Amino acid sequence: MTFEQMAALHARSFDGAPRPWTGAEFRSILEGAGTWLVSVEGGLAVGRCTLDEAELLTLAVSPEFRRRGLGRRLLTLHEAEAQAREAKTLYLEVSVRNHAALALYRSHGYREAGRRTGYYAQADGGRTDALVMARNPGATTPKV
Ligand SMILES: CC(C)(COP(=O)(O)OP(=O)(O)OC[C@H]1O[C@@H](n2cnc3c(N)ncnc32)[C@H](O)[C@@H]1OP(=O)(O)O)[C@@H](O)C(=O)NCCC(=O)NCCS
Repeated sequence: MTFEQMAALHARSFDGAPRPWTGAEFRSILEGAGTWLVSVEGGLAVGRCTLDEAELLTLAVSPEFRRRGLGRRLLTLHEAEAQAREAKTLYLEVSVRNHAALALYRSHGYREAGRRTGYYAQADGGRTDALVMARNPGATTPKV
C-alpha cells in the first residue's frame, strides 16, 4: 500500500474528524523510529513502541468493509507486533463518543487510564474528550 493509498483510506474512514493524515504524514510517521503498519484490504493500523510501551496511533476500516471483523483483526495484529517488540503495556486514545471503537477496545481488555478534556476537534467545530486506554499485560486477545 502506498502512502497516498493509506491517506485515502484514512480520509474515507474518519470522514473529516479528527483530521485525516496526509500521505506525507504517513511517510514521516512510518519512517520514524519504532513504528509499524499492519494492513488488510480495507483497513490499516499504525503502532509505535518506545521502550516497553506501545501505542496505537491510528486504526481505520473503510466504511464499506466494516462489521466484518477487520477492526478486530487489525487490533490483534497490532498487539502481536507490540508483543514481538517486547511492549509490556499498550496504550491508545479514543473519543468518548466513538462507541464502535470503545466496544472493540474494551473487548480486547483495554481499560480507561485517563481523560484528555477537549482533545479532539469535531466536524461541527466543537471539541470532544479523549479517553486514554491501557491494556494490562495479562489481558487476553479474543480469537479471530
Ligand atoms: C472502529 C472501527 C475500526 C471498527 O472496525 P470494524 O472492522 O467495523 O470492526 P469489527 O467488525 O472488527 O468489530 C469489532 C467489534 O467492534 C465493535 N463495533 C464495531 N462497529 C460497531 C458499531 N457500529 N457499533 C457498536 N459496536 C461496534 C463491536 O464490539 C464489534 O464486535 P462484534 O462484531 O463481536 O459485535 C471502524 O468502525 C472505523 O474505522 N471507524 C472510524 C475510525 C475510527 O474510529 N478508528 C478508531 C479511532 S481510535
